[in-house]
Amino acid sequence: MTVSRFARPWLAGVVLLGLGGLTIALMHGVAGPAPHRRGPADPTADLDTRMREADAGAGAHLFATCAACHSVGRGGVDLDGPNLYGVVGAPVAERRPRYNYSSALRRVGGLWTPARLDAWLTSPAAFAPGTNMPFEGWADGRDRADVIAFLAQQGGPSPP
Ligand code: HEC
Repeated sequence: MTVSRFARPWLAGVVLLGLGGLTIALMHGVAGPAPHRRGPADPTADLDTRMREADAGAGAHLFATCAACHSVGRGGVDLDGPNLYGVVGAPVAERRPRYNYSSALRRVGGLWTPARLDAWLTSPAAFAPGTNMPFEGWADGRDRADVIAFLAQQGGPSPP
């Protein structure tokens, strides 16, 4: 197709408008997940701030990474990792008695508070050296807060 020299700027305008529309559609979640559409929240802000701004819906999309090894529904099976239904506020490495937790994770003790989940998801290996969870961690604190907010909606006691 030949496009006249005069038509080209016009076409470029149409393309730009189209891209603008797509961006708006993405920002409104029409065309798929856009985890951080809520604005320039600070990924290194303290946990309280991040949890206040957390988006459980975005966390549900982010959970796709975890779903390779974890089911989260009530009555879901243990995969490579234990089912995570009700994990927020539950005892560490105890909730799924038939799952073969590592001794590294068993040694941790206590409850899965949002703060501990935040540390765990930053670096499982640093939180519980010797853990079996082969996940390198997420550097972006917003991603961690979003997925914790999502997990907190999946049954069990509400987060402390
Ligand atoms: C490649 C597999 C894999 C991926 C990906 C993975 N996990 Fe795990 N996860 C495991 C394994 C294995 C364990 C058990 C660790 C142990 O016993 O040391 C575990 C344990 C856990 C526990 C402790 C559960 C309990 O009952 O105490 C939590 C919480 C958890 N994972 C959350 C997540 C989240 C959230 C993600 C995604 C951001 C994720 N995991 C990604 C394999 C994985």
